[in-house]
Amino acid sequence: MPMFQSHVPRTAPFIILFGVSLSVIISVSYINSVRLGNGLSRVRNVIGTQSFSGRIPPECVDPYKMPGYMYTTEDREETRWIPFYPSFFDLPELPETAYPHPDDMGDILLDNRTVDDAILNTAPVPWFRMLRQYYNYLKRVDEAKESNQPEPELTEFDEYVRDHMSWMQHRRILLMGDSLDRNQLQYLCEDLGLESIEEGGIHLTKQTTAYCHVPHVNITFVQWHIAGMYTFRPEWWWMPMKVVSFEDRYREIFEPVSMPRVIGLSGSGPDLILMQSGLWDQVAFLSGAHYQRMQALPEEDRTKFVIGRPKEPLTIDQLRFVSKRFIKFVEFMKNVFGEDVPMMYRSSTIRKDGKDEDWGILSIDRMLRSLVTTRFDMEVFDWSKLAYGASNEYKDFIHFTKGRMSLLFSDMLLHYLFRASGGVEVEGVVKKWPQERTMDNLKANWDMCHDYLVDTTNR
Ligand SMILES: *[C@@H]1O[C@H](CO)[C@@H](O)[C@H](O)[C@H]1NC(C)=O
Ligand SMILES: *[C@@H]1O[C@H](CO)[C@@H](O)[C@H](O)[C@H]1NC(C)=O
Repeated sequence: MPMFQSHVPRTAPFIILFGVSLSVIISVSYINSVRLGNGLSRVRNVIGTQSFSGRIPPECVDPYKMPGYMYTTEDREETRWIPFYPSFFDLPELPETAYPHPDDMGDILLDNRTVDDAILNTAPVPWFRMLRQYYNYLKRVDEAKESNQPEPELTEFDEYVRDHMSWMQHRRILLMGDSLDRNQLQYLCEDLGLESIEEGGIHLTKQTTAYCHVPHVNITFVQWHIAGMYTFRPEWWWMPMKVVSFEDRYREIFEPVSMPRVIGLSGSGPDLILMQSGLWDQVAFLSGAHYQRMQALPEEDRTKFVIGRPKEPLTIDQLRFVSKRFIKFVEFMKNVFGEDVPMMYRSSTIRKDGKDEDWGILSIDRMLRSLVTTRFDMEVFDWSKLAYGASNEYKDFIHFTKGRMSLLFSDMLLHYLFRASGGVEVEGVVKKWPQERTMDNLKANWDMCHDYLVDTTNR
């Protein structure tokens, strides 16, 4: 029975889950490292025969691309995304399903919000929460060493993370986007008991770069604030940012200020990149239009630009503009970091409410989904699908609070790092741990399942 239950706080249910399935995971991972040893490439040749969907081999299914159930309780730490796998539909029938309705049954309420372990255990491994365990373990050991104390007593779970989590060490993750990404970075950092740091050299504003370095593990999360796809800083620019185009921002801010922070073991770039643009593009067009309208009025009638959102899609020319600029942006970054870093497009979330003001961002997001998948073979980090409808997780009209969704964002981010490191998980169970020998072969690891996961779907 559960090995760790006795010394695991109730606030970390996934550990209990891990405890329950630990021996299973270990034996399965041994077996699988043998079985998968000769390659997922073999699996790819037999498309259909092993797959529940008839298209994607189970080893390649992306749990965050599956439709799922957002499991939440009062305790945000229990938040999980539970994909609806075929196993869900194979569960035994509930007595309430009986027809005709038994006289003695009463109403059909089914209002117990607890999720059975059998279902909960199919949720993807909460890798961020694993990182936190690993960090706490390494920190205790390192601190004992520094103060010449004997090595602290290890729990079985400590030994488990020690033996399995080294793939997280010396990693660099880059988020190129807007304040939503910066907020996620800040929350992630705070959830580790650390503080994210904003820097920008002579151009320091909130919208420059920020990072979170996790000592002991030596993993760093970096955010570069992209000011949208505009090519210059017009007179009417409304933000504190002095430098607008990504080319200028790269030259004047990102490269001099934070380049060394994003270079991982490859020596040429990070281990994973998310990129995004949208919110500021739509506002730039609005702001420019406002300025032109005001110029036509006598001075005393002119009003200041108030940030609003377009109530209609961008024009097709505006989308053409953003698309061409985004193409250049991707090419620019590939040029800087090389072709081997897994790059994903982080999809755009919408407003807390006011659906009629989502049109601008929706039109850009839909265009970019098509662009990144058809032109660049990029996968979508489809955060917006998970976050859709989570209105009570917003802290204002557009930003998420530090809460359930932000925790899932962190788990999800590290899910892709796990994959880039060569890890394989199937329905919440690790089938293959990243191997010392291959964990830095980002491209080869990523390509194992990549073709199945480039998905040009709409939102
Ligand atoms: C709700 O479901 C859980 C898990 O299936 C079960 O352990 C618990 O007893 C149920 N609670 C009630 C009030 O029926
Ligand atoms: C920390 O990680 C970076 C990036 O991978 C690496 O260059 C550096 O050597 C690592 N530091 C230590 C102390 O291992």
